[in-house]
Amino acid sequence: MLRIGLLTSGGDCQALNATMRGIVKTILNKAKEPVEIWGIEDGYQGLIYGRWRKMEWRDFSGVLTQGGTILGTSRTPFKYLDQPEADGVDKVPAMKKNYKKLKLDCLFMLGGNGSTKTANRLSKEGLNVIALPKTIDNDTWGTDITFGFTSAIDVATRCIDDIHTTASSHGRVFVVEIMGHKVGWIPLYAGVAGGADVILIPEIPYDMDNVVEAIERRERDGGRFAIVAVAEGAITKEEAAMPKKAYKKKVAARVQPSVAYDIAEEIARRTDREVRVAVPGHTQRGGAPDAQDRIFATQCGVEAALACLRGDFGVMIAKVDDKMCHVPLASVAGKLKYVDPEGDLVREAKALGISFGDE
Ligand code: F6P
Repeated sequence: MLRIGLLTSGGDCQALNATMRGIVKTILNKAKEPVEIWGIEDGYQGLIYGRWRKMEWRDFSGVLTQGGTILGTSRTPFKYLDQPEADGVDKVPAMKKNYKKLKLDCLFMLGGNGSTKTANRLSKEGLNVIALPKTIDNDTWGTDITFGFTSAIDVATRCIDDIHTTASSHGRVFVVEIMGHKVGWIPLYAGVAGGADVILIPEIPYDMDNVVEAIERRERDGGRFAIVAVAEGAITKEEAAMPKKAYKKKVAARVQPSVAYDIAEEIARRTDREVRVAVPGHTQRGGAPDAQDRIFATQCGVEAALACLRGDFGVMIAKVDDKMCHVPLASVAGKLKYVDPEGDLVREAKALGISFGDE
């Protein structure tokens, strides 16, 4: 008997169910022995508190196109892993105990950066863990792409597309705030795909003078409107030079709901333009996965199942230079993959006349 556990951790995204379907179909197809499937509910919380359900192949039928996660998810911050829960439960020993209780041969963990750090810890504690790279942010180290990313680009791009009509009708400047946590992958890709005039990402700190100049230049060239795609983590050159603590304090003291509103206010103050903000927010994580995500998620699921059957544990499934592979969890945990400010897409966007506010 082969006993496997499935767990989705951290923020949800579009292709989680497609990935689990890939794991389960492959395991059932290729295993030489009967398989027992355990769905752990609500991320690591389910493993800590013993919330799980036995699942059948039928549970994974018809979920390829279904967004969210059929298991539920939650955030269990890595930095508090060794701090007991409010009710006194010690998280790591509880997870080890429950893994053993279920007699698992392998735990498949679908998660982003923080979740991968926890997976690495559990692997070091002796559990057989295989991680799969989930996040719309595409910031997971060790893989060129994560599942959820291309679907999120599509949603953000559609938002920029749809804003164009109102921006054009009213001759307005629109600031569109795009997710991505500390990195700028989604705003960069959606900004280019949606034809933004300015793209502001954390990896390229901006100067407001340059942003205003780009908007005025577009007006001088006859553009009736302008679109500024802003990463939720965008920072000014001044903020980038600040000590981390001082910057965090500044963000905590922000009066506006988020960075897009600060930028919009500043543009309105410095120009005579009408400025509005649009925030697609969590819609970027919602809805059905696009075709590319379905394919990559399926590939991840298949490779993870095959790795399990070979006994390759303590790894994360990845795509590097267009090849599926796996990388040691220890080499991935705790690292972020940032946009290269000198990379091709940034260089090409600049050549096209898109401003990043840095020059
Ligand atoms: O990591 C995915 C993500 O959507 C980030 O882009 C964003 O910063 C964060 O999660 C939002 O988290 P929450 O769902 O907890 O509001």
